[in-house]
Amino acid sequence: MKLRTPLIVGSCGLTSSIENIQLMEKNGAGAVVLKSVFEEEIHLLLNKKIREASDDRLLYYENSETYDYLDLHTRSEELDEYLQFIRDTKKDVLIPVIASINCVTDSEWTAFAINIQEAGADALEINMFFNPAGFRKADYETVAIQIIENLLNSVTIPVSVKLSSYYSNLGYTIQKISKTGVQGIVLFNRFYSVDFDLDKLTVTSSDLYSSPNEYLKSLRWIALLSDKIDCSLAASGGVYTGEAALKQVVAGADAVQIVSALYRNKIEYLNSILAEMEEWLEKKGFNSINQIKGKLSYGNVENPEIFERMQFMKYYGGIF
Ligand SMILES: Cc1cc2nc3c(=O)[nH]c(=O)nc-3n(C[C@H](O)[C@H](O)[C@H](O)COP(=O)(O)O)c2cc1C
Repeated sequence: MKLRTPLIVGSCGLTSSIENIQLMEKNGAGAVVLKSVFEEEIHLLLNKKIREASDDRLLYYENSETYDYLDLHTRSEELDEYLQFIRDTKKDVLIPVIASINCVTDSEWTAFAINIQEAGADALEINMFFNPAGFRKADYETVAIQIIENLLNSVTIPVSVKLSSYYSNLGYTIQKISKTGVQGIVLFNRFYSVDFDLDKLTVTSSDLYSSPNEYLKSLRWIALLSDKIDCSLAASGGVYTGEAALKQVVAGADAVQIVSALYRNKIEYLNSILAEMEEWLEKKGFNSINQIKGKLSYGNVENPEIFERMQFMKYYGGIF
């Protein structure tokens, strides 16, 4: 997909209103990702596997990371509303509208993806959620590939996969996923963590929004992978400034997703991020953002080892 700017508003509640999406378009968004529909809801719609879904205690456990998402979508009628929302949004904005499905199993829910395509979505992002605390005996990498392949066989619109970083052999897994034929990979999905209230000895949740230094995680992986995979890459997580967005492009990202920064600073803030990027490009004498893409990717730096070392013992050794 060709985007007018590399900034995409990531999947979240802000993209659940047409007025907001219009404002995002006005303030320079290249595309928007709608709030996810959860696989469990699709099961409800299809009236299949209901028992299976509700038996998955971790998905419904009140402290699960998915709880806030699920809470927002409990009625199956909302699926029809979702499709109607896509149709309505497509009438009112010109930027690409990317629908989002959150899924955990390889199942019949792919039929819903076809409905999404028919409703006019420009693309589909799948938010692949395998709870790393699930302790279920499952080869998540294989399940992920099956889900993607099923989906690619069902729809013709571009499909991107939003991944968590909780895979064994992450680089290899991402590379393998890129070879399935998906058009894009989004690094990374963010799960907000539980916290404890020591006074009440209860479990609480931590901040729903990311913090600005979280961009470093996707920066590293995008730099490592951008010249080694067969699809587009979008960075997600902790991008609050034009500087952070530019760094992701320099690492090799084709696009950058932004969510928390807009919750904290309002949708219009997107324009400031874009302005900062344009100003920097102009100051440095670049005519196009494509000129800086991947300049510091693994393939282009003199000492790529710096990306590979998990522990910089050389430096830590001097400290301790
Ligand atoms: C309030 C809120 C709701 C979200 N809902 C979804 C969702 O429905 N589907 C999804 O894939 N990601 C969802 N996310 C995650 C964001 O799309 C994004 O991956 C994450 O917040 C990291 O990006 P950020 O640092 O720019 O916020 C949500 C995030 C927030 C803060």
